[in-house]
Amino acid sequence: MSEENKPVHGMWASRWVFILAATGSAVGLGNIWRFPYITGEYGGGAFVVLYLICIALMGVPIMIAEVLLGRRGGLSPIHSMGRLAEQSKVSRRWKGIGYLGALAGFLILSFYSVVASWALIYVWEAVTGMFQGLTAVQSQGNFEAMQANPWLMMGSHTAFMLLTMGVVALGVKRGLERAVEVLMPVLFLLLVVLIGYAATTPGFVEGVSFLFAFDFSKLSGEAVIIALGQAFFTLSLGMGAIMAYGAYMPREIKDKKTGRSRPVSIVSSVAIIAVLDTLVALGAGLAMFPLLFTGGLEPAQGPGMMFVTLPLAFGQMPGGILFGSLFFVLVVCAAWSSSISLGEPMVAWLVERGHKRGVAASMVGLAAWVLGIGSVLSFNLWKDDTFLMGTFFDNIEFLSTSILLPLGGLLIAVFTGWVMKETQARKELAMKSFPLYLVWRALVRVFSPLAVIALILYSIWSAVG
Ligand code: PHE
Ligand code: NA
Repeated sequence: MSEENKPVHGMWASRWVFILAATGSAVGLGNIWRFPYITGEYGGGAFVVLYLICIALMGVPIMIAEVLLGRRGGLSPIHSMGRLAEQSKVSRRWKGIGYLGALAGFLILSFYSVVASWALIYVWEAVTGMFQGLTAVQSQGNFEAMQANPWLMMGSHTAFMLLTMGVVALGVKRGLERAVEVLMPVLFLLLVVLIGYAATTPGFVEGVSFLFAFDFSKLSGEAVIIALGQAFFTLSLGMGAIMAYGAYMPREIKDKKTGRSRPVSIVSSVAIIAVLDTLVALGAGLAMFPLLFTGGLEPAQGPGMMFVTLPLAFGQMPGGILFGSLFFVLVVCAAWSSSISLGEPMVAWLVERGHKRGVAASMVGLAAWVLGIGSVLSFNLWKDDTFLMGTFFDNIEFLSTSILLPLGGLLIAVFTGWVMKETQARKELAMKSFPLYLVWRALVRVFSPLAVIALILYSIWSAVG
């Protein structure tokens, strides 16, 4: 470990723990809840292609940049950026990347907790057999009844926020590491079971072709910016979560068998995380769309999609009570391992400023909980109070996901590609293949920033025009 990386908050035990933690951050509601419903709203296949392009050409290079900055900085994103700016002899205003990210993380945490808490309620419903024999319309009605109940949602939102900040208060290393090691493989397994079930339903072909038929006439400016935002959201990019996790990533690790030190590669780790995240998102689509079409429901279901279609499947399949309960437990856990990473950057920053971790986690959690009440009410009392993008919830989601994350990613790319000394970046990545390094550098310097700007401009232009 180099002298500049003092493990203030602890270091991951190995490269695999970093990969698991970052995958835990990446794989969450973005894949299982958000990806299927926005794909439904924005017309299917063409949207998926746009999303995949954004992942490959912007997401992966920026994720590499974010881990690189984190590992080099060794602290919370705000302080890492301050330190890196100092090293590069540029204005300390680049800390702004950290502050912007903290704001985005805070906004996302507030509504993320609310949606995750629906899954918490659904664990109960699955266990007590409430999905047995539901029709599509009844399942829809069941979801709407839950949303109409602000007290119920307030209770579960409180519970989820406590779970999240409880783990952050303990420190990410303790508890989280072992949890993701068990939960991630089981999540994959269950997803495969659900896709298998979907394949037996009559709507399977229609579902698959909805997901993969590329009808580009369906693309709108709004769809473009939503796809861009989703690429950032799903990989946890642009707000410092991955930067914070990168700060806990060792540079070298001792091989237990040979006793020799081996460098820990950023690029291959990121590639694995991005592939896993993409597989889970596409898998969730494959598991859900066939059920929608089988049940005669519209693909444009909105945020309720996961909570309407999956109960249908569980209510019909053999062993549905068991699988349904397990599935929603796993959704909660996937969301849990993501929400922790939303809170960690801010809490780490406060700890570095001298606060106790427990106090810092309580402060961040309390503030996000209060803001989250606005999202709870967006589904009942404030349902009709719409402005700009829709309800309070819609606006918080759009601002954080589609504006702040791409903006943060843009600044991260510019800093890594243009501001930081090239030798530093190259040393940190320590890539074996020089041509591959050049490809990454070109993507991060030119392509990613231009594409983010172009996509933002295009969507503004089509919103105005
Ligand atoms: N990537 C997470 C998901 O897909 C959400 C998230 C975004 C987590 C940003 C951390 C930071 O659910
Ligand atoms: Na994700």
